[in-house]
Amino acid sequence: MLKLNDVSKVYEGKVAYRALTDINLEVEQGEFVAIMGPSGSGKTTLLNIISTIDEPTTGEVEINGKGPHTLKKNDLARFRRRELGFVFQDFNLLHTLTVEENIVLPLTLDGTRVKEMKQKAGSIAEKLGISHIMGKRTYEISGGQAQRAAVARAMIHEPALLLADEPTGNLDSKASKDVMEMLVSINEKEKTSLLMVTHDPQAASYSDRVIFIRDGKLHSEIHRGESRQAFFQKIIDMLSLMGGDGNDLSSVRI
Ligand SMILES: Nc1ncnc2c1ncn2[C@@H]1O[C@H](COP(=O)(O)OP(=O)(O)O)[C@@H](O)[C@H]1O
Ligand SMILES: [Mg+2]
Repeated sequence: MLKLNDVSKVYEGKVAYRALTDINLEVEQGEFVAIMGPSGSGKTTLLNIISTIDEPTTGEVEINGKGPHTLKKNDLARFRRRELGFVFQDFNLLHTLTVEENIVLPLTLDGTRVKEMKQKAGSIAEKLGISHIMGKRTYEISGGQAQRAAVARAMIHEPALLLADEPTGNLDSKASKDVMEMLVSINEKEKTSLLMVTHDPQAASYSDRVIFIRDGKLHSEIHRGESRQAFFQKIIDMLSLMGGDGNDLSSVRI
């Protein structure tokens, strides 16, 4: 459902910087893929290109048979809203709104009726186990609850592909586990494809496959077998094999 053909990215500036080189990548419908690599290896650049926030310098991106980078502005905005969901490290909720209002925000952009919005929000909140916080404002809830609200907002359009950049980066280990379990349940029940950038081997161990990138190039990938614990260990081993800047294992939670 997602295909990258020889994607490269050069940031132009006083000094041009090559952030990605010839990335080839395929994600199947319903697959959960994690991307790991040292700081500065190009993970966010890659995610921004897939999410159409940024454009590749060369190469193509295909999502559900469409080339989002070839769409005109209005079509692209609609494509992004309907086919993609986004989750960020810092939740990106609006603080003046309640959780429910945050969740229905993407629908207000589509001109959906209030009654239908409430219905959709209610059903997604129930599915994701956050019904009890719908009336709260963002400063009244925990980080884990905020991220789960952000995931609910990302899922309101039932996107085919959910993109997450360090979704557990600001969470403690208990809240991380809650958010990861929620993502896994969405992936399994809704068959939403998931692409998640993370520094956290614990979070990555919930995925089906981890892709490692270094210096803007694909380095290697490993698949999850039967046991999440064994997968976690394999991820740690690969990260230490890859080296990095020393910061990258700082978020390991044993
Ligand atoms: N807008 C930009 N202009 C110039 N260089 C950038 C820009 N964004 C990122 N970079 C550079 O590209 C490289 C990859 O960055 P990034 O994709 O953010 O890495 P990661 O998410 O893996 O830490 C880094 O060296 C970074 O400094
Ligand atoms: Mg990044």
